[in-house]
Amino acid sequence: MIEWTLSIIKPDATRRNLTGEIDNIIESAGFRIIAQKRILISLEQAKKFYEIHASKPFYDDLCKFLSSEPVVVQVLEKENAIEEYRQLMGATNPTNAAEGTIRKRFAISVDQNSVHGSDAPETAAREISFFFSNVEIVG
Ligand code: CMP
Repeated sequence: MIEWTLSIIKPDATRRNLTGEIDNIIESAGFRIIAQKRILISLEQAKKFYEIHASKPFYDDLCKFLSSEPVVVQVLEKENAIEEYRQLMGATNPTNAAEGTIRKRFAISVDQNSVHGSDAPETAAREISFFFSNVEIVG
């Protein structure tokens, strides 16, 4: 089934000028980037976006980090996109990420792990509408 997933290229990656390289990896893996924008999100927006993690010890630092410098948010389209993008990103903690994955190649730590991807269809729908209106998504 053709799916959409929400991807974020995080501040550690935008800071190191890795947006183009990561886009290239994504497109080479057969995803279509059907929406994309570089934005600076507020701390309040980051807290809302990651509210599911509000009880976790890393929540405050995570939200501060995501709102610290620009991010690139994007909608990716592909057959089975949600699971396939999680495979392409690699494990959350880069020390556990498989060779060739985005996080293995670029992530600095579990906090600064270069990319985010939705983890389920419901999450993808919520996360895509968090950042994009319908007119901004052009397949
Ligand atoms: P992400 O996929 O964006 O979802 C939540 C983020 O929390 C995760 O990537 C990590 O960057 C960050 N994080 C920080 N510490 C942890 C942890 N111990 N376990 C899981 N995620 C963590």
